[in-house]
Amino acid sequence: MLAIAILAAGKGTRMNSKLPKVLHSLAGKSLIDRVLSCTQGLKPNLRLVVVGHQAKLVEDSLKNHKDLDFVLQQPQNGTGHAIQQLIPKLKGFKGELLVLNGDVPLLKEETLCSLIKFHKESKASVTFLSASLDSPIGYGRVFTDESGLVKEIIEERDCTNAQRKNTLINAGIYCFDWQQLSDILNLLSNQNSQNELYITDTISLLKKALHFKVDNPFEIKGINDRFQLSECEHYIQKKLKSLWMSKGVSFVDPISCSLSEDSNFGTDVIIEPQTHLRGKCNIGNGCHIGPGCIITNSTLAENVLAIHSFINEATIGNNTSIGPFAHIRPESNISKNSKIGNFVEIKKSFIGEKTKINHLSYVGDSTLGKNINIGAGTITANFDGKNKYRTIIDDFSKTGANSVLVAPIKIGSHVTIGAGSTISKDIPDKSLVVERSKAMIRTKAD
Ligand code: UD1
Ligand code: CA
Repeated sequence: MLAIAILAAGKGTRMNSKLPKVLHSLAGKSLIDRVLSCTQGLKPNLRLVVVGHQAKLVEDSLKNHKDLDFVLQQPQNGTGHAIQQLIPKLKGFKGELLVLNGDVPLLKEETLCSLIKFHKESKASVTFLSASLDSPIGYGRVFTDESGLVKEIIEERDCTNAQRKNTLINAGIYCFDWQQLSDILNLLSNQNSQNELYITDTISLLKKALHFKVDNPFEIKGINDRFQLSECEHYIQKKLKSLWMSKGVSFVDPISCSLSEDSNFGTDVIIEPQTHLRGKCNIGNGCHIGPGCIITNSTLAENVLAIHSFINEATIGNNTSIGPFAHIRPESNISKNSKIGNFVEIKKSFIGEKTKINHLSYVGDSTLGKNINIGAGTITANFDGKNKYRTIIDDFSKTGANSVLVAPIKIGSHVTIGAGSTISKDIPDKSLVVERSKAMIRTKAD
């Protein structure tokens, strides 16, 4: 039997934030979400999350993980006190309890598997992850005897100067034999610099404590402040960009760009500086993106060109060009070979093949056919102050500069709308329409 407990009740004082520490995000995913993801494949019998500081906010953020059981720790008297709160939930439980700190987000599932395996094979009371760090600052130090058994973990603030020189640190990830742990949990004392109950004090109370060293120190990096958060972000970004470069994506200036882990690329994609991909993006072969694009949860087919633009929850077809300075908003589908030019905003609209919306337009709640030319400054007036209405324009039609189409409205195919017109009724196929007041010209007196 395997139970997993994630400690996420702390405030994260060193973050200086209104947001609980475990809800800060790395490459678009919260710290706690990352910790949870690396436990998914372990098939635990139960997953407990200890919450306390802003408990509801933390719980709400994890709504999509259906199997979680939340345990309230109030007040937050330390990591040992957090573990004591599990006692009622684990009554009668026999097996391993895997404890993870909610602020160690880069951990890999394989490492946890190896830890559990090693722990079981060595019949230890507890085995925890450790690392030898060049700079062990901030971590609890691990002290072993000649046989390799761990004698104690001493928190940095409780170490003597000599003890602080020890570079073997506790990563805050433990595999316990629950029965042995539950027998000693009420022996913890708060005789330390923070007057808290420490989970690390269980080590010297248990019969056989072992540590399991990880090779990559980044994997067990704990996040206590925003500096460490940015180091982890940098680490993830560097890894992601290296991966995609090896698969055929060029980054002109990688350091200025950021990616999400859920983004996928074809080959011969060029990413120019200051370009950011968020959420789930699919970027097809030959796309050229940036400089200056932010693309979120969108699909770009092949050979799309996008410059200085926002593309959010949209689909863009082959050979289409976007920008500079276009804003493609959710539920927009732009077909192949079309062109969305400068200062154009598209929302919840379908744009057919080879249609051009080149300059200064707003197209919202619309369905446009193919080979349409939308003149500069054309606006679909979709909102009457209460409701939104649709605009339909059929194939091969043209709108003149500064046209306003008052929705709901249907413009037929092969229609030409004269510049400056405000059209508020349906226009049949193959017609020319102009709606404009007559110019009044008077000679000025001298
Ligand atoms: C802890 C370890 C330290 C280790 C380090 C690794 C202790 C006493 N020390 O220190 O040996 O090197 O992690 O990163 O455990 N939490 C609660 N309830 C509380 C206090 C904390 O749930 O009352 C949670 C926090 O939300 C956090 C985790 O426990 O996710 C660790 O707490 P934190 O205060 O960051 O411990 P460290 O000082 O980093
Ligand atoms: Ca920590």
